[in-house]
Amino acid sequence: MLFEPNAPCPCGSGKKYKKCHRVVDEAPSHAKYGLAQGVYADNWKTTSQLQYARGDYAWMADQLKPYAFERVFDIGTGSGHGLLALWECYGPRLRIVGIDENPACLRVASKTLEDRGLPAPVIIRLDITETPFGFVQEGGPLPLPLPEPVALIEADPLTDPYLEDALTDGGLFDVVTIWLTGGHFWRRHNAYSVHRGAKSEHDLRIILQNEAYELADRILRPGGILHVVDRAEAPTSEALRIEYFKAHSEQAEPTSLKVRHIDYRLWEPPEGAPIKLVTTDPENRPDSFPEPQLGLVSIISEKV
Ligand SMILES: C[S@@+](CC[C@H](N)C(=O)[O-])C[C@H]1O[C@@H](n2cnc3c(N)ncnc32)[C@H](O)[C@@H]1O
Repeated sequence: MLFEPNAPCPCGSGKKYKKCHRVVDEAPSHAKYGLAQGVYADNWKTTSQLQYARGDYAWMADQLKPYAFERVFDIGTGSGHGLLALWECYGPRLRIVGIDENPACLRVASKTLEDRGLPAPVIIRLDITETPFGFVQEGGPLPLPLPEPVALIEADPLTDPYLEDALTDGGLFDVVTIWLTGGHFWRRHNAYSVHRGAKSEHDLRIILQNEAYELADRILRPGGILHVVDRAEAPTSEALRIEYFKAHSEQAEPTSLKVRHIDYRLWEPPEGAPIKLVTTDPENRPDSFPEPQLGLVSIISEKV
């Protein structure tokens, strides 16, 4: 036995090992990826419910108030609490496509939205195969047209050859959101993560965010918005704000997106949240910077 069943799970969730990652550790290797997705979905649901209850998602949705938009593409929908906040803020004018590589998260997201009266069908379409190069998630073309006003699709924008055509089948988007990027522990064993040399959650986040900039460039209308929200050191000083501006301008460099607005809300991990924080910190943090405080950091870029 790896760990005591009643000891706290080493993932830091605060749950007993037997109620958390034991099922993954004890499974045959081909089954671990899918099981890790399930454990993550469960733990993320609790975390995001806590964040939703204290208004974190309402704040994120509020950041988009200055912009006129209807069509939203959401990368990494998780438990759907972000989409719920968008719907509550902007209402039935929205048409939303949310994707996640984790089918268990999408099922939770569908329930989150349907419990509030918003039908949110899920398109599950990927098979997981273990290969010598890592786990591969593959599926066929998407059924078109996509459901409206909300479609939740199992897809990974890093590797899916069918996603972009399906997205633009309904026209260009006004907004692309990528909020609080993160994922399950076996994501590092995805063949694409291995191929890119991703060693940590931070590496995975940067790879996905970079892809978000490039994909947004192709699927946004001119004047459309990419909205990134990170859990990170809050830019409480002008120097830090400039660091964030530089870092995201660099991520946007291969595209026609321009960073327009950076904002933050001071943030602490919610008490009792099973998914722990991995922050995206400014590189080469000078000692002269103020004492770090955690925040939700909102970065809005515009396609020019
Ligand atoms: C921390 S959760 C955040 C969910 C939601 N955006 C929110 O703010 O609550 C990150 C989500 O991104 C998904 N994700 C991570 N990498 C992904 C990828 N390459 N493709 C699609 N989804 C991904 C994870 O499965 C997870 O559900």
